[in-house]
Amino acid sequence: MEIKFEWTPSMSVGNKIIDEQHKKLLEKINELLTSIEEEQENEVIGKIISFLGDYINEHLRYEEKYMAENFYPDLKDHRRIHGYFVEKYNDFENRFNENGYSLEMLQEVETFLGDWWVKHIGQEDKKYADYIRETKS
Ligand SMILES: [Fe+2]
Repeated sequence: MEIKFEWTPSMSVGNKIIDEQHKKLLEKINELLTSIEEEQENEVIGKIISFLGDYINEHLRYEEKYMAENFYPDLKDHRRIHGYFVEKYNDFENRFNENGYSLEMLQEVETFLGDWWVKHIGQEDKKYADYIRETKS
């Protein structure tokens, strides 16, 4: 399967650790897509979903700390967006745990996970990146 979601240098937020986390997130989302497409065992898919959930939480905490340390004024709104996403992810994970995977999940993973992240990094994360870059210079 081709790589659907890929980090490009234009997505950089000016922080190496966060850039690496974003890369890994997109990599894992591709891995999840492939595992569903290849109709792998629920156990295999479940492990990726659970790893991704933990990784997302870790990443969002790190990013929020970074924004707070840099006095980003829109942290509250940004945090709300993260919270909303986490809620949706938990719902997705619960549904998977109850019903197992289905090929319909592919569409959901592409739009709710992959497209969401690409858009979030390119728009919301860019806002704090721009702010921090400007205030530091
Ligand atoms: Fe973010």
